[in-house]
Amino acid sequence: MSAAADRAVTTIEGLSPDGMHPVQVAWRDLNVAQCGYCQVGQIMSAAALLAQKAKPSDDDIDAAMSGNICRCGTYQRIRAAIHRVATGGRR
Ligand code: FES
Repeated sequence: MSAAADRAVTTIEGLSPDGMHPVQVAWRDLNVAQCGYCQVGQIMSAAALLAQKAKPSDDDIDAAMSGNICRCGTYQRIRAAIHRVATGGRR
């Protein structure tokens, strides 16, 4: 049985109708994406983390994002973008 059976699934298109979800805004502000291949998964994982924990630590972020591999090595910008959302854009 699928792990997603009988569960709600949100895609990147469902995150925000206009691309203005705070995670998407932070991603653009900090130019997180490089090639972009992994970024949908990264954004969705970041949004899920922030929905569960408004102010995650670096360890929280590393644990939550560990299922997403970025061959371009954008991990530092991903972490910065998540902190930016968690601090309301002040970091
Ligand atoms: Fe290229 Fe992550 S931005 S794989």
